[in-house]
Amino acid sequence: MARVALVTGGSRGIGAAISKALKAAGYSVAANYAGNDDAAKKFTEETGIPTYKWNAADYEASKAGVEKVEADLGPIDVVVANAGITRDAPFHKMTPEQWKEVIDTNLTGVFNTVHPIWPGMRDRKFGRVIVISSINGQKGQFGQVNYAATKAGDLGIVKSLAQEGARFGITANAICPGYIATEMVMAVPEKVREAIIAQIPAGRLGEPEEIARCVTFLASDDATFVNGSTISANGAQFFV
Ligand code: CAA
Repeated sequence: MARVALVTGGSRGIGAAISKALKAAGYSVAANYAGNDDAAKKFTEETGIPTYKWNAADYEASKAGVEKVEADLGPIDVVVANAGITRDAPFHKMTPEQWKEVIDTNLTGVFNTVHPIWPGMRDRKFGRVIVISSINGQKGQFGQVNYAATKAGDLGIVKSLAQEGARFGITANAICPGYIATEMVMAVPEKVREAIIAQIPAGRLGEPEEIARCVTFLASDDATFVNGSTISANGAQFFV
């Protein structure tokens, strides 16, 4: 039986590449999305990967969503907490709403996604938790006090989950993508984006598939002893 994988934010951007790569690697994949019905429909038509709509920022909705996926596909073996948003603003202009929206989706959303899946992983003595953090959680970023806080928080989550899950055959790891060619990065003003690319020694943005390949490695049986780690995939822009 194919292992089952859930990818939150799995119908667009990096998440879509992850969903497709996991499917190609033989997993039975469910892609969660929050709001863009058209993109989700198109994604399913193109890939055959089923999509499930719920808001990762909502615990009860996440729990119900996980139950639905497990009823349809079977117990979730691999969870990729990828859903994330930006509400960039310099700190002096950042509103409490911008702070809260990003915390609710990017940080609490990881709790909401993994928490309902975790007991089953413990019972079955197998699990892969993969959290998509960011270079900006490692180095901070002008205009991203909210986002950087969540992405740094992700690293604390996986390091703690790794210690709790290790004796149950569960690994928890993070990936810190650098700047990847997705809608999120394209939303940054062009001048700012050009300045960012100039700071990437690789001389280019990353491709979503370059992150997806990190995920398939962490999910695989090649990565059994990799636990609590962070893979930085950023074209040499930043070293921890
Ligand atoms: N470092 C230093 N100074 C900077 C700066 C930087 N990185 N960016 C802007 N400034 C300066 C500006 O030049 C300006 O200076 P002056 O007032 O002297 O002209 C000042 O700071 C801020 O100007 P504003 O108050 O007008 O700022 P703003 O309200 O227009 O907001 C911003 C600016 C929203 C932060 C904008 O700079 C921005 O979008 N920056 C990009 C942030 C970013 O990298 N986001 C990543 C998105 S992709 C992602 O998140 C994926 C991932 O994981 C990598």
